[in-house]
Amino acid sequence: MSPVRVASVADVPEGSAHTVEVNGHTIVIVHAGGAFYALDNTCSHADASLGEGEVDSDEMTIECPLHGSLFSLETGKPRTLPAYEPVATYPVTIENGELFVEYSD
Ligand code: FES
Repeated sequence: MSPVRVASVADVPEGSAHTVEVNGHTIVIVHAGGAFYALDNTCSHADASLGEGEVDSDEMTIECPLHGSLFSLETGKPRTLPAYEPVATYPVTIENGELFVEYSD
């Protein structure tokens, strides 16, 4: 599948999260530690939007706003309970100031 443009670099400042729709699926784009990450926006534990959670650029995590599980930006795996299953992650590339995600259903 070819990369899908999801946002401009300027749309996602360092330390922030930005949700986008790709093929009817919500993905959260996170800018942390100078790099960009893409994860499924829906928490693996219940119906919460990770994009509304806190980004920690030192720990490289995003916190679920509902019950507080911390998810690794790099692997999508939860580092803390109550979530125990990972969320999907997608490669992000940058071209001419635009962010692209390699999305597959
Ligand atoms: S909904 Fe995310 S930890 Fe419960």
